[in-house]
Amino acid sequence: MFEELVDIKENNIFQFDYELLTILLKDMTTNKNIIWGTDNYIVEDVSILPTDEIKIEQIIGYNGNVIKPRTKKSKIDQAKRVRDKAEVFTPAWICNKQNNLIDNVWFSKENVFNVEKKTTWKPTKEKIVFPKGKTWQDYVKENRLEIACGEAPYLVSRYDTTNGNVIPVMKRIGLLDRKMRIINENVIDEEEWLEWTINAFKSIYGYEWQGDSLLIARENLLYTFSDNYIYKFKKKPSVDLVKQMAHIIVWNIFQMDGLKFVIPYSCYNKKKKSSKSLNQECLGCKKNNYKNHNGTYVKIMNWETNRRIKFISVMNRRSKNARQRKKI
Ligand SMILES: C[S@@+](CC[C@H](N)C(=O)[O-])C[C@H]1O[C@@H](n2cnc3c(N)ncnc32)[C@H](O)[C@@H]1O
Repeated sequence: MFEELVDIKENNIFQFDYELLTILLKDMTTNKNIIWGTDNYIVEDVSILPTDEIKIEQIIGYNGNVIKPRTKKSKIDQAKRVRDKAEVFTPAWICNKQNNLIDNVWFSKENVFNVEKKTTWKPTKEKIVFPKGKTWQDYVKENRLEIACGEAPYLVSRYDTTNGNVIPVMKRIGLLDRKMRIINENVIDEEEWLEWTINAFKSIYGYEWQGDSLLIARENLLYTFSDNYIYKFKKKPSVDLVKQMAHIIVWNIFQMDGLKFVIPYSCYNKKKKSSKSLNQECLGCKKNNYKNHNGTYVKIMNWETNRRIKFISVMNRRSKNARQRKKI
């Protein structure tokens, strides 16, 4: 494990530690596995339904080649996924440009992490200096979310998701990559590095509909952890440490219909046998109101209180704050 640069092999993860893949497939809201969310797959001659859970035994065969990043999928599959779910990935240089815009505001200056050059960029060499009144710890703690994250190119950039070109640690441009650069530059002690790396991972969120892309996004974050650990300490992280990071990642990179804030396909239109609810149909779907779905609202972890909260409650709070700001 940790050798793969682009296409991470699920059988390698399974061989590294049999529990690790179980963790990476977990849906923390349903306590089941994440679902495929696509009908692109036939495994062992059986067509997969989008609502089927992804099972370990379905993805560790064929040398871990069942789930592949978009660049390695067939042209037919790629075209189908554009039609089905608007799956078009963003080139790394555009992710960089947009992430730079966020940092330009935060630092009140340009070219902090790199200097843009047409369709590429050059990383700055000097240790990053922080503006008056802000510390490197403040930067690491800032929460960031990639909506409809696909393979999560705005968060981590191990490779360019549009052409599969590998990007070395020092040149990476993702929101989490930037936090890792800051930690690598400011911390020597391994214990302190781990403490801040955990804070960084807890501050980075992403959601996605399609389960295969979601698993890849989770793997990309996990390998970003090991890439940085190896870069910093010249040794591989322990199994326990990798599992600890995986546990944070599966909370923060989750499966959700981002228009409804529920688990994809979980809304229903007829009375469930076991349910006492009078709802015959989903009012949220009927009236296009994100607050009234009868599906399963996604839960995320509030890492400050260590309590589970509904993702939609964060959105409600944000829109309330925005309304109040408008009034002022
Ligand atoms: C245009 S791609 C962008 C992926 C990635 N953020 C990027 O920039 O490369 C759109 C992604 O949104 C996902 N998607 C489409 N509809 C969605 C929905 N309602 N909720 C969550 N994800 C959705 C697709 O599966 C696809 O991976």
